[in-house]
Amino acid sequence: MALSSGWLVACASGQGRIDMAVPGMATGAGVGAAVACAAVVALLSAVLALYGPPLDAVLERAFSLNKACSIKDMKNTFQLVRNIIPPLTTKKHKGQDGRIGIVGGCQEYTGAPYFAAISALKVGADLSHVFCTQEAAPVIKSYSPELIVHPVLDSPDAVQDVEKWLPRLHALVVGPGLGRDDGLLRNVKGILEASKARDVPVVIDADGLWLIAEQPALIQGYQKAVLTPNHAEFRRLSEAVLRDPLDSSDPHGAVLRLSQALGNVTVVRKGERDVISDGRQVLECSQEGSSRRCGGQGDLLSGSLGVLVHWALLAGPEKTDGFSPLLVAAFGACSLTRQCSHQAFQKHGRSTTTTDMVAEVGPAFARLFES
Ligand SMILES: *[C@@H]1O[C@H](CO)[C@@H](O)[C@H](O)[C@H]1NC(C)=O
Repeated sequence: MALSSGWLVACASGQGRIDMAVPGMATGAGVGAAVACAAVVALLSAVLALYGPPLDAVLERAFSLNKACSIKDMKNTFQLVRNIIPPLTTKKHKGQDGRIGIVGGCQEYTGAPYFAAISALKVGADLSHVFCTQEAAPVIKSYSPELIVHPVLDSPDAVQDVEKWLPRLHALVVGPGLGRDDGLLRNVKGILEASKARDVPVVIDADGLWLIAEQPALIQGYQKAVLTPNHAEFRRLSEAVLRDPLDSSDPHGAVLRLSQALGNVTVVRKGERDVISDGRQVLECSQEGSSRRCGGQGDLLSGSLGVLVHWALLAGPEKTDGFSPLLVAAFGACSLTRQCSHQAFQKHGRSTTTTDMVAEVGPAFARLFES
């Protein structure tokens, strides 16, 4: 059942603290929690009456963290994702549902930008542009006739070449297959500055995050940025930004603190459970995925997130019930990626690769958000 997991579980208050209430707690401080929990159970029952997964399974999942905040925060986050998806109509013209740019792709890495760009298309973007180095361009083009590929990233005019396209792009995904060449990173720094100046939303992953760890000021306070670090990238970022060794005992707090230290930039920490924060709330995505950890899954996430960020910002906070649109977009992309992994694994088992997951984007999306 698509709706059986992935609930909003915690909320933030004050400086880097998460308020928690343990369901069923019998102390004085737990009275409010008990009331809240009873109400949450009632709410869940009502939702389940509509959608049907077994109540026990959902409650167990929702409360397995022993954290609940208030009913207000215990939303069916999937519904919020559904709210931001633009309807398919015959009245639209090409490009309206999303023109996404991927910045990355060099001699060594050509698969990552391809996976990000094709995932954006499969989620529902109309056009995917890839801005990569000259050498990488013919390779990436040869993977797919569906991508528009610009061999500009290692050119001395890279920033201007990409900037020209910015007015036509709804979101940029920076980092897939970027590598750590100093010259390329300098160009990407210029591209990020130009994107901020034009208010273009950016999703930053992989070696784009390496650049942010070196120069956090590049993204500091930019409300249209989402960072998608894996475990190692999160550690590096946290230590660079907070100047403290990472406290691994409190995963929610760690993501919240990093987001706040970056001026409430949205952070998605990928892992066994994905933890998402916008500096105010913490969301967790525990949609069932698979135990395969093949390379490229992060690119599927960043590419689909590019599209969802655009849709979410277009829909605005009315459609996301007051929650930050980027938080909802991130939850959508995380649950989609995990569902793709789950479905691909059911068919291919150990031999599952990211190509198999990309083939599941359509059915997984329909199952989670359109059923
Ligand atoms: C980030 O959000 C927190 C919690 O709402 C708030 O206290 C803080 O002022 C915000 N910081 C910025 C830079 O907006």
